[in-house]
Amino acid sequence: MISKAIKIAPATGKLGVVIPGMGAVSSTFIAGVEAVKKGLAKPIGSLTQMGTIRLGKRTEDRIPKIKDFVPLASLEDLVFGGWDIFSDDIYQAGLKSGVLERSLLDQVKPALEAIRPWTAAFDKSYVRRLDGTHVKKAASKMELAEQLQDDIKIFQKRNNLSRTVMVWCASTEVFLKPSAVHQTIESFERGLRENDPAIAPSMIYAYAAIKAGIPYANGAPNLSADIPALTRLAKDRNIPICGKDFKTGQTLMKTILSPGLKARMIGLNGWFSTNILGNRDGEVLDDPDAFKTKEESKLSVLEHILQPKLYPDLYSKYTHKVRINYYPPRGDNKEGWDNIDIFGWLGYPMQIKVDFLCRDSILAAPLVLDLVLFLDLAQRCGMSGIQEWLSFYFKSPMCAPELYPEHDLFIQLMKLKNTLRHLKGEELITHLGLEYYD
Ligand SMILES: NC(=O)c1ccc[n+]([C@@H]2O[C@H](COP(=O)([O-])OP(=O)(O)OC[C@H]3O[C@@H](n4cnc5c(N)ncnc54)[C@H](O)[C@@H]3O)[C@@H](O)[C@H]2O)c1
Repeated sequence: MISKAIKIAPATGKLGVVIPGMGAVSSTFIAGVEAVKKGLAKPIGSLTQMGTIRLGKRTEDRIPKIKDFVPLASLEDLVFGGWDIFSDDIYQAGLKSGVLERSLLDQVKPALEAIRPWTAAFDKSYVRRLDGTHVKKAASKMELAEQLQDDIKIFQKRNNLSRTVMVWCASTEVFLKPSAVHQTIESFERGLRENDPAIAPSMIYAYAAIKAGIPYANGAPNLSADIPALTRLAKDRNIPICGKDFKTGQTLMKTILSPGLKARMIGLNGWFSTNILGNRDGEVLDDPDAFKTKEESKLSVLEHILQPKLYPDLYSKYTHKVRINYYPPRGDNKEGWDNIDIFGWLGYPMQIKVDFLCRDSILAAPLVLDLVLFLDLAQRCGMSGIQEWLSFYFKSPMCAPELYPEHDLFIQLMKLKNTLRHLKGEELITHLGLEYYD
């Protein structure tokens, strides 16, 4: 199937990246981009920088790099800004988070020291384990949204930016369910003016981004833009949005392994996942209400991949548990264990054990980069509203209300690459391949 190529505006000029939350993930991302720009390291883990895309038939040998196939902003053109409840610049934030070595941070120190967070739109009732003084004061949540838009405008003007993207990398907020105030743009704006407690800071940032005309991605599991009022506003204003919750360590493994088990019709009795981590994110998730937001996000993937209704003999009775334990000695170097009880031919039981000694922010940083570049591309292509083709990056992918989310990493990747082929008017790849044998 070949579609007509879409008109894509060129990636000329500077691209601003504004980030609520300048902690471990943000500092690892920004320092990483600066290090790559200087040739000190490679952008490992980034599909936009290292990935290729096959075009046409396997015999044609046309396999460009993704960044040479679609017009993405160059790393040289990225300009960073953001908000935090602590006033540390990105060099200090990088040192404190303890992810990257000081020797690396020192080599890009001037660029990092120049990035000082703006005061945050923060309310402790949504992130109870943190206290910060670098916060905005306002009479209403609407006024906070206006202040955030002012920050963005000043940043855009000062840096002569052509375009801007926002990625939420701030702490996970307490669990909230969508309620009446989230349903329409009118009820949401009334809620902002009347300080409705169901409107969390992450929603105020998402609203500010959409109103400022800039795409928004949510790297945490809290609802943020995933409410009808904001998905509608994004659609009406032609703004691409996506989320939620970067798919990194244990859930990444889960969405790699479980499609494989299902592909071979191997049954599942149980999947027990536990983690220890000691960074600030772990401390925030030590609050049961913040953990509940994360737990919901982590639990949903298996059910959607395994489809128990279609395969009752294999997947209708499994137990799935997820635990996160805050354990300071490990810092950002998380350890995640999975015990997977499976069964095969005639029901004979077997076990798989996974012990993933991962580095949370090292896995998350390239996702931030890809999301920035792909969201900017989406906007230049005129794509708006929920960008389901970016599900590849998320534990709880946003999708249209009548759909279930697609969690299988390999289907997600195929969807992403076919979207790029579609944008460029290239043949979509179905892997049918019968023509090779005619
Ligand atoms: N690292 C990963 O692998 C990964 C995976 C999935 C999701 N996430 C999510 O990404 C987010 C960032 O993770 P991290 O490890 O960098 O955490 P972190 O605690 O190091 O950084 C988060 C920062 O957000 C700030 N913050 C909190 N509320 C804010 C607000 N309202 N406005 C502005 N700043 C605010 C905090 O002060 C902190 O500096 C977390 O929500 C985490 O759950 C991370």
